[in-house]
Amino acid sequence: MGIYSEEIERRRTFAIISHPDAGKTTLTEKLLLFGGAIHVAGAVKSNKIKKTATSDWMEIEKQRGISVATSVMAFDYNEHKINILDTPGHQDFAEDTFRTLTAVDSVIIVIDAAKGVEAQTRKLMEVCRMRKTPVIVFINKMDRDGKDPFDLLDEIEEELHIHVRPLSWPIDMGQRFKGVYNIFERKLNLYTPSKQYVTENVEIRDINSTELDGHIGEPLAEKLRSDIELIEGVYPVFEVETYLKGDIAPVFFGSALNNFGVKELLDCFIRIAPSPRPVQALERVVDPEENTFSGFVFKIHANMDPNHRSCIAFVKICSGRFERNANYKHVRFNKMMRFSSPTAFMAQKKETVDEAFAGDIIGLPDTGNFKIGDSLTEGEDLHFKGLPSFSPEMFKYIENADPMKSKQLNKGIEQLMDEGVAQLFVNQFNGRKIIGTVGQLQFEVIQYRLLHEYGAQCKWEPISLYKACWIESENKEMLANFKKRKSQYMALDREGRDVYLADSPYVLTMAQNDFPDIRFHFTSEF
Ligand code: G4P
Repeated sequence: MGIYSEEIERRRTFAIISHPDAGKTTLTEKLLLFGGAIHVAGAVKSNKIKKTATSDWMEIEKQRGISVATSVMAFDYNEHKINILDTPGHQDFAEDTFRTLTAVDSVIIVIDAAKGVEAQTRKLMEVCRMRKTPVIVFINKMDRDGKDPFDLLDEIEEELHIHVRPLSWPIDMGQRFKGVYNIFERKLNLYTPSKQYVTENVEIRDINSTELDGHIGEPLAEKLRSDIELIEGVYPVFEVETYLKGDIAPVFFGSALNNFGVKELLDCFIRIAPSPRPVQALERVVDPEENTFSGFVFKIHANMDPNHRSCIAFVKICSGRFERNANYKHVRFNKMMRFSSPTAFMAQKKETVDEAFAGDIIGLPDTGNFKIGDSLTEGEDLHFKGLPSFSPEMFKYIENADPMKSKQLNKGIEQLMDEGVAQLFVNQFNGRKIIGTVGQLQFEVIQYRLLHEYGAQCKWEPISLYKACWIESENKEMLANFKKRKSQYMALDREGRDVYLADSPYVLTMAQNDFPDIRFHFTSEF
């Protein structure tokens, strides 16, 4: 037990992820309402970039402002300190979301009952699986007609490759929605549509008693009994340990908009969700309860003021206690630094804090000292792993459009890449720079910011690529042979690692067949 154990064990740091429109913002808002952090519905602004605004940069800029405020929302609930990390809804910023997932200890996935598992959810779940992050599923919008709950569970298992275990069960849906039976606590939650009030619940010790019929009528009571019997027969008994290992996801049903099923979710969450977990550094495993401070930068938010470059570096505290004005080592620079105005995020307010503990997120005002993945410690050289780069999906050559400003352009590109806006590869054959992104919007963001923050102009030139993959092999001869054969398609990433730029799925498959000793990686963390 460390000296800060009590503080650390009461922390729950997590993210809510979903496909846009499933109800992430609504659920976040209801959680804040329970925590007393806000008092009226509608106070949480969605940070999602509306679909209609994809080409409207000013709109994006405005919304970026909102998303700084809602990056981290912290509140106290039943002796627990809850830190919700927000993730951008727009898929073009998926990379940002992936990195945020490296800073959380667990995740709640929101699924729209009518739509089931959607593309974005699938992709985000992949990251959770990779990291063995414990996951709770909330099936939302039960007040609308949706898919059959058993079908939904099958779909989640199949599409998200995770075992599920319902801990609550819906009684009908849509207009006829009567409520949910809380399997975890053996309580019946009766539903009355309401956006303001938390619905009362009734304790049902035995669902075979006629008391149940009195509440929901005989036919539905019979249906519930047979559903529960089926669940108990098909799904394993819920064990917290299996959930914590990331092997099983408990499932809740409800309606975030109607504030229904949310409290049950939150109550179960604080009971079973992990407090800050040990973090793997390159050198060793760092335990949150260690007395010395350590943390890493997982996100950098550029300033809204284009006249001078200042950002907020978001640091996840991995161990110990962070103190304002203390000296900490910036490991990459091997330099001690002091931070006089670290910020914490209570509900939606940003305020300067004097201390923070493992599990918390702090914002450090920065003028270009940090890049994603940097670590801070009390002196030890620690490098935190696990900030994956995914193979981008879109590629363009970036060229200088103003020869007088090439220095500014290079500096701008470097710093934007430090922020993790996109990925840079340098083609070793022709020396040209290639920017890889997950969506068109990022190219617009880069061009705009290069001009407004660095006074540099870039232009894009097309390049037809299918995927960038990191390659490695113990068979040095085969590797050298491959690089020679594919010399036109070889590039280096910013860490100097070999990247093969495949121009079609066919060529990639052929390469994989012809060079069996070479491993082709689609994320850079291996
Ligand atoms: P997101 O952050 O995941 O993108 O979703 P968000 O919470 O913004 O919700 C998307 C839409 O779904 C919103 O409607 C919201 O009101 C609605 N919604 C959320 N939860 C429920 C629910 O339990 N039942 C029903 N019926 N609807 C729900 P909108 O019309 O797009 O926005 P708004 O005008 O209501 O804000």
